[in-house]
Amino acid sequence: MSSIVIVGAQWGDEGKGKVTDLLAERADAVIRFQGGNNAGHTIIRDGETFKLHLIPSGILHRDTLCIIGNGVVVDPRVLTEELDALRRRGVDTGGLRISANAHLIMPYHLLLDLAREQRLGKLEIGTTRRGIGPCYEDKAARLGIRMQDLLDPKILRKKIVAALEPKRLTLRPHAKDPALDLHAMVEEYVTYGHRLAQYIADTSKVVWDLLDEGRPVLFEGAQGALLDIDHGTYPFVTSSNPVAGAACIGAGVGPKDIDEVWGVSKAYTTRVGAGPFPSEIDGDLADQLRAKGVEFGTTTGRARRVGWIDLVALRYAARINSLTALVLTKLDVLSGLERVPLCTGYRSAEGAELDHFPYHQSVLHHATPTLVELPGWEEDIGEARREEDLPEAARAYLEFVAEFVGVPVALVGVGPGRDQVIWNEVTAPAAG
Ligand code: GDP
Ligand code: IMO
Ligand code: MG
Repeated sequence: MSSIVIVGAQWGDEGKGKVTDLLAERADAVIRFQGGNNAGHTIIRDGETFKLHLIPSGILHRDTLCIIGNGVVVDPRVLTEELDALRRRGVDTGGLRISANAHLIMPYHLLLDLAREQRLGKLEIGTTRRGIGPCYEDKAARLGIRMQDLLDPKILRKKIVAALEPKRLTLRPHAKDPALDLHAMVEEYVTYGHRLAQYIADTSKVVWDLLDEGRPVLFEGAQGALLDIDHGTYPFVTSSNPVAGAACIGAGVGPKDIDEVWGVSKAYTTRVGAGPFPSEIDGDLADQLRAKGVEFGTTTGRARRVGWIDLVALRYAARINSLTALVLTKLDVLSGLERVPLCTGYRSAEGAELDHFPYHQSVLHHATPTLVELPGWEEDIGEARREEDLPEAARAYLEFVAEFVGVPVALVGVGPGRDQVIWNEVTAPAAG
């Protein structure tokens, strides 16, 4: 295995955590390169469930370095809690490394995130309210506080004062909020610094050294292509770039150091939060899919919106990420449908047929899906481990998706368990 970027190819929650954990078995390091604790990545091991928000999904592998890259925004309270929770469950966290350049989510970022959403009212984005947007804004405004600042209380204090200055007016209603007390904030963050100092490193160099020795490295994305701030359904997006190109920036390597890009997609689609979703469905069928797929947010517990697989969007994700392989998860959730709809085009409000993802917001907002229906299958496929074990109709479905998107399917998910996967012969671990 060489260096592989793993990205979400839809609106997040595609199963990146499970895929990363699986591939991490053969990797020397897993590096998260963007997002923060808006992410919730689930790994199920021997019936035990781990929900990771900041720590890379390689942490259950003792010998794998788990790196939080410079592109990630870190809430140190959440990170220390996540570390404690893992340790209590007997997980060795000694392999964690955190970039000294990663930006920190501060208490005022949380307040600003909430205040903005409240101000937007009905037009809210439906953020995870974890302070992600305001933190990336401060980074771009050059007012961010970084991991390395935790190691010097004087510098930390100065930087917090400078960051608060332009926010004074907006934060005035919270003036008495203890979370904004300067002295307490500095104290709290210095304490995090003491705890996290042992993990802080020049992570770009750590990754480079591994790549230079030809060691296998995974780059773990958060969110998904359609939540990308440049390429997603703006403004209903997150504030970072979840696409593969961001792996270079958020880890500190060049494009030539990436060998493969795997895009993870469900066999249907979900979205949590507001914004356009052309293949969305509602009613009983939606409730059934949501219940069977347990479609409730890993981070916020919100019910996820559900819809059919959107092959137009997936082909777009394949293009903007240079996908070399597809991972199709949750195929098991489709069992029992008489016919399986797939979205292969859109119709605009004016009746035009669209076969590409529209770049214009108004067109996308009014697009309705063109669906084709393939025969469904009755069988429970949770025990399938080879493509031959799948019903004919399920195999035809996989073939249709791969052909339409123009990317081979490397791995198929047939249940939440770690072993509930089907490897394509070419990509199977045994084949190296
Ligand atoms: P991530 O954010 O992309 O890592 O995905 P999440 O962990 O937020 O959501 C994916 C959910 O689907 C988790 O609850 C996984 O346990 C579950 N899951 C992953 N793969 C499969 C699969 O093939 N079948 C089923 N039924 N569940 C799966
Ligand atoms: P993982 O990594 C699904 C969504 C939010 C909201 C929008 C902006 O688990 O796939 P933000 O808090 O980032 O400013 O919210 O993005 N969102 C996600 N949806 N999975 C995620 O992460 C998400 N992270 C953010 O619901 O619509
Ligand atoms: Mg998730």
